[in-house]
Amino acid sequence: MRNESLIETLMPKVIEIVQEVGDFIITERRNFDMKRVEEKSPRNLVSYVDKTAEEMLIDELSLLLPNSTFVSEEFHSIEILDELSWIIDPLDGTTNFVHNFPLYTVSIALAIEQELMLGIVYDPLHKEMFHAIREHGAYLNERQIHVSKTNSLNDSLWATGFPYQDFGKLKEYVDFFYHLIKVSHGVRRLGSAAADLAWTACGRVDGFYEYGLSPWDVAGGVIIVQEAGGKITNFTGGEEVLFSKEIIASNNLIHDEFLDNFEKIYFSI
Ligand code: IPD
Ligand code: CA
Ligand code: CA
Repeated sequence: MRNESLIETLMPKVIEIVQEVGDFIITERRNFDMKRVEEKSPRNLVSYVDKTAEEMLIDELSLLLPNSTFVSEEFHSIEILDELSWIIDPLDGTTNFVHNFPLYTVSIALAIEQELMLGIVYDPLHKEMFHAIREHGAYLNERQIHVSKTNSLNDSLWATGFPYQDFGKLKEYVDFFYHLIKVSHGVRRLGSAAADLAWTACGRVDGFYEYGLSPWDVAGGVIIVQEAGGKITNFTGGEEVLFSKEIIASNNLIHDEFLDNFEKIYFSI
């Protein structure tokens, strides 16, 4: 109960902070100079925009909740949750941002005693604020959202992502992709895992799967999907997704059918 009222009080303030960071990202994009892009490692891009956005979030969220700690992509990329942890991706879809491909997001989650309690995914270009509080439903701006009602793989549309670095399972992954496009309405690659999850939550796609992800890519979107009535598992159907580096999100109705197809091909070798 104490946590519940704490989170309800926090949400509008966190939304305001995220909006401010979104405005910063859009403003910087207008005059963005490719020369300011660095490679953290091959194909893993970053710029001052990611770093400054993360600093802004950490400064403001620390003021809001002084005892909290951070798991975040640029400065706190540890994978341990404390009693009160923010899990932050300041700019999810950096490759899109750098190429001016118009979809990137800010993703924030708050975990209390290791449980995700609040999630936000903000697409600043389209002014879409997805947000959810545990057991209070999921919203897109003011409107409550729900996952789709599609009840067979044949009628479903999927989103996925491809790894930039860990190519260990790429062959199996592409084999499954080849299979999925023949037994569904198709597969999209948005370039922001947080958007993939948010779009699953509001039914634009029926599900999303990807491997090689970090907790900050998925934390905000996971609770939004769950609160919109969806299901989240790892590739073997287990519940751990924050640190498992693999995720399947769906509208629940087609989760088992997807998993059956996936396991047969992905784990066949
Ligand atoms: C990436 C995006 C992308 C996914 C990558 C992530 P970043 O995050 O979420 O969709 O395919 O695996 O690393 O680097 O843009 O924050
Ligand atoms: Ca990311
Ligand atoms: Ca990022």
